[in-house]
Amino acid sequence: MTADPPATPERRLTRHADVRAVLADPRFLVPAAPAAQPGSGMAWLRGAVSRFSNGAEHAGRRARVAGLIDALDPVRLRREARERAGAELAGAARVDVMARIARRVPVGVLATALGVPEERREEVAAAVTAMAAAYHLPPAPGAASPGAASPEDAAVAVLADVLGDALGEGLGEGRAPDPGLLAAVAGALVQACDATAGLVGNTLAVVTRLPAALSVRWPVEALLAETLRWDPPVRLTRRVAAEDATAGGVSVPAGAVVVLDLAAANRDPEVFPDPHRFDPARFDRFDADGRGCGGGGGGSRGGSGGHLGFGSGIRPCPGEGAALALAAGVLEAALAHRLADPEIPYEPSPNLRVPACLHLEGADTTKGPR
Ligand code: HEM
Repeated sequence: MTADPPATPERRLTRHADVRAVLADPRFLVPAAPAAQPGSGMAWLRGAVSRFSNGAEHAGRRARVAGLIDALDPVRLRREARERAGAELAGAARVDVMARIARRVPVGVLATALGVPEERREEVAAAVTAMAAAYHLPPAPGAASPGAASPEDAAVAVLADVLGDALGEGLGEGRAPDPGLLAAVAGALVQACDATAGLVGNTLAVVTRLPAALSVRWPVEALLAETLRWDPPVRLTRRVAAEDATAGGVSVPAGAVVVLDLAAANRDPEVFPDPHRFDPARFDRFDADGRGCGGGGGGSRGGSGGHLGFGSGIRPCPGEGAALALAAGVLEAALAHRLADPEIPYEPSPNLRVPACLHLEGADTTKGPR
């Protein structure tokens, strides 16, 4: 009788330097999604985006989505997010930010900026929200019978339909955008959805509990950066060793999975003194007296002193600027409101931290405008 081979334990890295080293090492790949036919829903999207591809294929897809995102105007994204979030909050006694704003507003603003007509914005935001959770997980074997579309597959079809019309319009009579462009736009929207919602929710969860004198002291940018360090929405990511390698000082055989704990690395005391303290001064370019100080963290680009909330290395988040603009706009509208329920439940997720609901009530006029 032969025993089953021992399951290879996942190696989990928590030191900032170790996590960064793996993210910059081309021997470590993302778990890739196989190519699938257009029209096959989530399987097609996962097989066509930069996020689940490697090597030259990844470089080409990443350049395409990054080109689309880099062309966006962050000032406009921020203003529109602020105005739309403000309209949701105005006059309402109590608003669940997660249900009404945290996904709908950023995804809607991003969608219109990427070419979706205004009248289809809500349809797109709803489809992207329905897709987001399934996008990050490989389909369970035998989860859906062949031909039976899951709700996520149906949402991908809605999104592909809207984007096909919107992006095809500029191409001339009867011409459809190529599947690579559809995947780049759909991928950007779905990547933005839950992570930006998590950033909005996690920032509000901490900042609305600070004494008013402290919460108004820091610019929104510093509050967001410190939240991305202290309570990041994307908690971890994974890589697979393409060949025998080492990570965090131990050998990793080809095929083994390494879990990169971004949240733990963001609290590495070797990089962030007093790491468990929420302190926006780490990322404030100006201290309380207006002198440039740079805080203790050294920026947010995933470098040796920065937080890893947007990843680092070969494939950091190309949407960082857009995400920060959208979240800043929402927060500018929301920060003067009070937390209605101190208990905040979180969505069950293996890799994301996103409040399930977060109720705000009436504006707190003592906080004043930022
Ligand atoms: C606060 C919001 C966001 C956070 C915390 C976040 C975080 C991340 C992280 C950590 C990764 C890297 C994953 C890895 O290395 O395994 C990533 C990848 C990515 N993000 Fe974001 N993201 C956010 C918003 C956005 C937005 C708004 C967009 C689009 C406009 C976007 C587009 C992407 C894309 C396309 C990738 C895949 C890049 C690649 O594999 O080459 N993200 N994001």
